[in-house]
Formats: sequence, structure tokens, C-alpha cells
Amino acid sequence: MSSKEGTGWLDSAVFYEIYPQSFKDSNADGIGDINGIIEKLDYIRELGCTAIWLNPCFESPFGDAGYDVSDYYKVASRYGTNEDLRRLFDEVHARDMHILLDLVPGHTSVEHPWFQQSMKAEKNEFTDRYIWTDSIWEEPTGCASLRGISQRDGSCAVNFFSHQPALNYGYYKPDPEKKWQQSFDDEGPQQTIEAMKDVMRFWLSMGCDGFRVDMAGSLVKCDEDGKGTIRLWQNIRAFLDAEFPDAAMVSEWGEPDKSLQGGFHMDFLLHFGPSHYNDLFRCEKPFFAGEGDVSEFVNKYIESYEKSERKGLICIPSGNHDMDRLAKTIQGDRLKIAFAFLLSMPGAPFIYYGDEIGMRKVEGLASVEGGYDRTGSRSPMQWDHSTNAGFSTAPKSDLYISQDESVDRPTASDQMADEHSLRSEIKRLIEIRQSHEALQSRGEIIFIYAEKNAYPLAYIRSCETEQILVVINPSDHDVVFPCEYVLKEPLYSFGGKLRVTGEGLCAPARSAGFYKL
Ligand code: NOJ
Ligand code: CA
Repeated sequence: MSSKEGTGWLDSAVFYEIYPQSFKDSNADGIGDINGIIEKLDYIRELGCTAIWLNPCFESPFGDAGYDVSDYYKVASRYGTNEDLRRLFDEVHARDMHILLDLVPGHTSVEHPWFQQSMKAEKNEFTDRYIWTDSIWEEPTGCASLRGISQRDGSCAVNFFSHQPALNYGYYKPDPEKKWQQSFDDEGPQQTIEAMKDVMRFWLSMGCDGFRVDMAGSLVKCDEDGKGTIRLWQNIRAFLDAEFPDAAMVSEWGEPDKSLQGGFHMDFLLHFGPSHYNDLFRCEKPFFAGEGDVSEFVNKYIESYEKSERKGLICIPSGNHDMDRLAKTIQGDRLKIAFAFLLSMPGAPFIYYGDEIGMRKVEGLASVEGGYDRTGSRSPMQWDHSTNAGFSTAPKSDLYISQDESVDRPTASDQMADEHSLRSEIKRLIEIRQSHEALQSRGEIIFIYAEKNAYPLAYIRSCETEQILVVINPSDHDVVFPCEYVLKEPLYSFGGKLRVTGEGLCAPARSAGFYKL
């Protein structure tokens, strides 16, 4: 069982995202596995991370890297056994850490037995487990479809790739003309939700601490304001409150006001949609590359901050398995400055494996497991200078994705030995975050300088007992901004300290600093 202690640990959590395929191969078959993760837990803890988000590790044909589950109850044999996963939970807890599994409630693989049954012409228990129209010639409203492979006469809604049929949680307002559209209260959607609760029950009873939930905001269809999906999650929240009050829930939703209403503890800032997250790190002129604009990101951030009652529980990831590696656009000192930002914002920070050493995107790879342009950001971790950078002792040709072959590819071992490395800087930043509540998830934030096409970015983080000014200047210029605070010695400074001038404070070129007010 998970340790009975509530979800308070989330307030100071710093997450590390593990893509299991690519982290550490313990049995030389060229693909990462659970025993490999266990071997490297001390590495994650030493960095200062306190929690793990593990990408899907369940049985799957791996047409979308495991986001196409064919058995929710079984660890994919290439990663190990359910017993290995249970041991991972125990080993994580023994290090005073926590772990979230990736729950994919929106769709399954076409190979899932539920779908195999649902495709049959005769009615059965799984007929309404997915969203089907009544005729192969009719498309499901608001979704792409999969058709032509079932005995059943109908088209099935899909969520992401066309081999990921959408589980049936109903339509927000079913169209009476379309009898096949069901409402959340109908039997099919109710059974789907109970089936998903069973899945959660299974892993939570085994000791996982909660879930990162895939596509959490799009389960009920044609639900523009999210009201139906919020209601669905409130139903799950009631189940969790009753049976697993300690389960932590983090959503891939991108609208924290809705996600928190649905009972999630935290939501993710997404790299698509209206968030302007990409303005920071991944656009033609990213703010953190030194010549960009942060103002629209900040405006949007404040908007969702206000909407979610200034709770600020929006997690900003360094990257993830769906986007270009951070180091593709941001390098050198600026990567350190980017982490000074990421590790001083509200919500829990999420570090994508390898971002702590500045792993690069491997360009030009053919798609692996439905990765397409994401494949190069999923290459195996670079641990050291041994065979395959210490990822695996298999022949290079057996690695399931090729590694970065550059002679100067970064490695964890080099960076651990160098106090000026990116990893060492991140370790320092995490230590500072962990010793100042104002910098942690629930500390308030007020932006004091975030002007259009201008540097620096300045904000104040605060809690009842302290206030900390954070000033971030990734540009190549010393920049002055109006600010009347009297400064003490910095808690943290990189690239030089702030100076007082006639017009305000001057932030040195390529610098970041935290100042207690
Ligand atoms: C979001 C996941 O992060 C991504 O990797 C996946 O392809 C889609 N959801 C579909 O499940
Ligand atoms: Ca392996």
C-alpha cells in the first residue's frame, strides 16, 4: 500500500519523467526496463528529484509508444513483470520518493480485448465500451474515425492515431437525432468509468502514488466548456476520496481551472493550444535563447492563475517525450538560466530524463513506435563513456532507438564530476527550492517585469514567512528595469549579481538571481 500521508508531498515535489524504453537497459536486449530504473533511482535522488512520472509501461503493441494499451493490468514483458513494478514502488518509497504511473483512460489499442469484443456484430458486454455510430457510412461527431475492420456495422471514434479507439464516456449533450450518441449517465459510459476505476484501484493497491492522466480534458465528447469532463473527474475524485485519499492526480489538460475543479491536484502547461509555452523555449525566437518575447506567455499564465484562484498549480515541464529537446534551441549558460526559471515557478517542476545534462535531439531518425518527429527526443540516456553510453551492453544495432553519436555528447558521469555543469547547477537550484517554501508549488507569484520584447523577466514568489525576488535575463545585454526593492545578498546567483542604478536594478547579461526581500 502507498504510505498513508496525504498528498502534501506534492507541494515540494520536483518530478523526473522517465521514458522507460530509453532510461536503462538491465538485461542487454537494447531496450530500457524496470530493473534498469531501479538501478538508477539513486541517481535521480542525488539530483534532488523527489518524484517520478513513469510513461506507460503496460502491455501494448507499441504503435504509440505504449499510449495504446492492450492490457491495463499487466506490465509489458519487455519492461519486466508486475512484481518488478511493485519492487520499483517499494524502492522509490524507500528513498522517500513518490511515483506516478501514466493512466491512459481515453483510448486503448485496437488489440485490447475490449475492442476486439466491441467490434463484434452481436451485442455483448463491450458493445458500448467505445463510441460507435450505427452505420459504417456515418462518422462520429467531433472525432476522426476508424472503420472497415469490424464485423459490426459502424464507425468508431478515435482519439489520437487512427489505431486508438476512443473509450465511451458519452457526449456532453447527445443529439436526439443520433441515437448512437450516449450520455455520461447511460450504461455504456458508466461501465467504462467503473472499468477505469478498477484499473486505478489495481495499481494504487499495489503501491503507486497516483497518476499522470493522458488527455484528461477530452474524455466526454463535444464538451466545449469541459463541463461534462469535469463532472466525470469529480465522479473519480469521489471514488479516490473514499478509497485512496492519498492518490496524487496530475492532468494533461492545459486548463488548470477546469482540471482543479475536476479534483486534480495539478495540471500541466501544454506545448500546444493557447499557453504560449513554446514562446519560452521552442519557437523561432525563444525568450530563453536571448531575443524573444515573454509577455504573451506571462499574460496567459496570469489569466489561468486568476481563473484557478491564484493556486498556481500548473506544472511547467523542461520538455517531455512529445516535444523537441530543450537543448535543441537553448544552449550553454542559457540552459542553466532556463532551469533557474523552471525551478522557481509555482506548480511542480518536471524534468524530462536527460534534460538535466542537456541531451540533444537526435536528428534524422526514422520514426520508432509512432514517435515520428518526437523520436529524436526519445533517444537512450547517456550515462557514461562505456558501451552505448552506459545505457545497454547490447550490440549498438540492437538499440531500439539510435543514440546521439556526437563525440561531445553530454554524459551524466562527466556532469556529476564537474561542479560547473548543467546538472550541478540544477542540483543547486533544486536544493534552494527545497529550502524555501516561497519557491515551491504553492508559493504565490506576482510578475513585476514582463514587458513586450524586453528583458529581464522578474517576479516575486512569496509565502507567509518570506518573499523572494527572481530575476531572469537570458539576453546578451545588461538590462535595467524599474524596481525599488532594497536587495540583500542573493540566495542564488548565476552570471553576476543585480546592481542598483539611477533608473532601477540592472540585471547582467546572461544571469539569473534569487533575492530574499
Ligand atoms: C499524449 C501523450 O503524451 C502522447 O505521447 C500520446 O501520443 C498522446 N497523448 C496519445 O495518447
Ligand atoms: Ca531491457
